[in-house]
Amino acid sequence: MAAGLFITFEGGEGAGKSTQVRLLAERLRAHGTDVVITREPGGTPFAEQVRALILSPSVAEHTALSEALLFYAARADHIGKIIRPAMAAGRAVLCDRFSDSTRVYQSIAGGLDRKVFDALEQLVVADAKPELTIILDLDPSVGLARAEARRIDAASGEGNGERNVDSDGAGRDRYERQALAFHEKLRAGFLAIAAEEPDRCVVINANRDASQVAAEVWSVVDQHLQRRAG
Ligand SMILES: Nc1ncnc2c1ncn2[C@@H]1O[C@H](COP(=O)(O)OP(=O)(O)O)[C@@H](O)[C@H]1O
Ligand SMILES: [Mg+2]
Repeated sequence: MAAGLFITFEGGEGAGKSTQVRLLAERLRAHGTDVVITREPGGTPFAEQVRALILSPSVAEHTALSEALLFYAARADHIGKIIRPAMAAGRAVLCDRFSDSTRVYQSIAGGLDRKVFDALEQLVVADAKPELTIILDLDPSVGLARAEARRIDAASGEGNGERNVDSDGAGRDRYERQALAFHEKLRAGFLAIAAEEPDRCVVINANRDASQVAAEVWSVVDQHLQRRAG
C-alpha cells in the first residue's frame, strides 16, 4: 500500500499504547496530517462486536484457532472498511494493536501453529501491512499495575474513557486475568518479532513518563517519514 501512512502500536497490557496513539495523533495533526485513530480487535461496528465476544471473561473456552479466526474475521472487516480506504485517501492510520498481537497472544503464547498464523495473515492482510510498528516494552507487572489504576480511575470517572464493557466484575478482560507468566511470554514474543523484523519494528522503553515515551515515538516517526521521503 503506497499512499498514506500505516503505523501500529504493540505491547502488553498497560504499556501505554492507547496513550501514545493519542499523543502521536495530536502531534501529526499539529503538522497538518489527516489522522485516523483505530484499534484492534475493533475499528468497525462488526469488529467491535467480535471484540466484546473475544474479551469477555464469560465467553466459553475455545481453541487458539477459533480465537484467531475470530480475530481475522474482525480484521478483514476493519481492513476493508477503514484501513484500505484511509490509506487510499492518503491519510495516516494509527492502529492500537494489529496482527503482531494475534501472533503473540494466539501463536507464541497461545500455541497456534505459526504456519496457520502466516496463512491467515497472507489471506486477510496481504499487502495491508503496517510500514512501521512501535513496540512499547514494559515489565508486565508494571503494565498490569497501570491497567489496574486505569480501571480505578475509570470507575471514579477520571479515566481516559477506555474502560472495557467486556470485563469481569473487577473490570479485567479475559487476557488481563491471565497469570503473570503468560504476560512475560507476551513481552518476549513482541521482542522476538522486533528482532525478526528490524526494518518494520522499533522497540521503545515504556518505563518512563508518557511525555518521554512520546518524544521518542515522535523521533522514530519523524526519522521514518524522512527516510520515506528521501
Ligand atoms: N508512561 C506512562 N507512565 C505512567 N502511566 C502511564 C504511562 N502511559 C500511560 N499511562 C497510564 O497507564 C494506564 C494504561 O495506559 P494505556 O495507554 O491505556 O495502555 P495500553 O493501551 O497499552 O493498555 C492509563 O491509565 C494511562 O494513563
Ligand atoms: Mg489500550
